[in-house]
Amino acid sequence: MTQTVTAVPVAPKAKAVRAKNPDGSALYPEYLPFYDPLEKVEDIGEFQHFDPGHRADPTLSNLLSTATKVVDLSPHVGTEVFGVQLSQLSPAGLDELAVYAAQRGALVFRDQDFGDIGFEKQKEIVRHFGPLHIHGWAPHPAGGSPEHMIIYDHADDLRVRKSWKGRSPVQWHSDQTPEPQPPGTTFICMLESPEAAGGDTLVSSSVQAYKSLSPRFRKRLEGLTAIHSNNDGVSQELKNNGEAAVMRRQELVQEHPVVIVHPVTKEKALYVNPVYTKSIVGFDQEESDYLLKFLFDHIAKRQDFQCRVRYETGTVLVWDQRVVHHSQTLDYPAGERRHAFRLTPLANKPIPAKVEEDDGECQRDVARAQLGLC
Ligand SMILES: [Fe+2]
Repeated sequence: MTQTVTAVPVAPKAKAVRAKNPDGSALYPEYLPFYDPLEKVEDIGEFQHFDPGHRADPTLSNLLSTATKVVDLSPHVGTEVFGVQLSQLSPAGLDELAVYAAQRGALVFRDQDFGDIGFEKQKEIVRHFGPLHIHGWAPHPAGGSPEHMIIYDHADDLRVRKSWKGRSPVQWHSDQTPEPQPPGTTFICMLESPEAAGGDTLVSSSVQAYKSLSPRFRKRLEGLTAIHSNNDGVSQELKNNGEAAVMRRQELVQEHPVVIVHPVTKEKALYVNPVYTKSIVGFDQEESDYLLKFLFDHIAKRQDFQCRVRYETGTVLVWDQRVVHHSQTLDYPAGERRHAFRLTPLANKPIPAKVEEDDGECQRDVARAQLGLC
């Protein structure tokens, strides 16, 4: 006999839904995306970067003075901090935010007023971490502030969703690695999420991605450099939007170390990603493709050093691009609104990891040492 299974409806009161306007309009209309195909901006150029994390009190006493709870989202990456209002942090608190983001990769703060304090105050806070990046083609608010990169997906503007047509929207990367001095401590402020679930950010520790390789393999990577380019993104923008395409800046191509060192924590991290990294310098094409494919798979598949960040209106994610990779999900129904802005401070020129015969890393890795893998 065939049994029929019917879905059990969840009582409407029990089902959590995220904030929406009853008439379907955007919660934050002043942040709606604006595209100007004629807009041009100058590159920031070379600058001295002093990471605010260098000044931080390692006890994090300023950052966490009001914290009620701190929850690690996974052992290697991601921490949710309760009871801290980012807009109220002192300069010393922001210094500690930098070092804590570098240590944990990604920090989640909920119920923030950050989206309500205005463009100028937002930028003043985030400039603490470095000069603000302006994206080559992503939109900014109609009311100005090109530094505010708007993330927007809704039935009234499917530009981003269409750009993923026919390919997976899950693309691990660190933002803007083709910059000569790529981003460091970065902010995303969620303004409006899809109603039920979805639109999470996936985060992977690039420090643990490096550490989890065998000592001998790590040695092979140190000293290598790779070419990063945003030419795929430029081509997509031109292909998808034709005369309406936004091309504010020149195409970017840059050579960076495959393994970098964080300027403050001194942790080594894998610094290649499938969105921007094109080839290993000095390798033949087949060798480069082979190695990069392994490294990209390693970053994407190793869920033992990943976490996932769910957002509500008012959630702010602060992450350090030098120690994690991330990806969008785009898993919610097409037409629903997801709306956020990103402020992206540029940081140091990537620092190459030093090549040493025995850096002691393996002995410090208790699991490896216990298993006799050093
Ligand atoms: Fe990104």
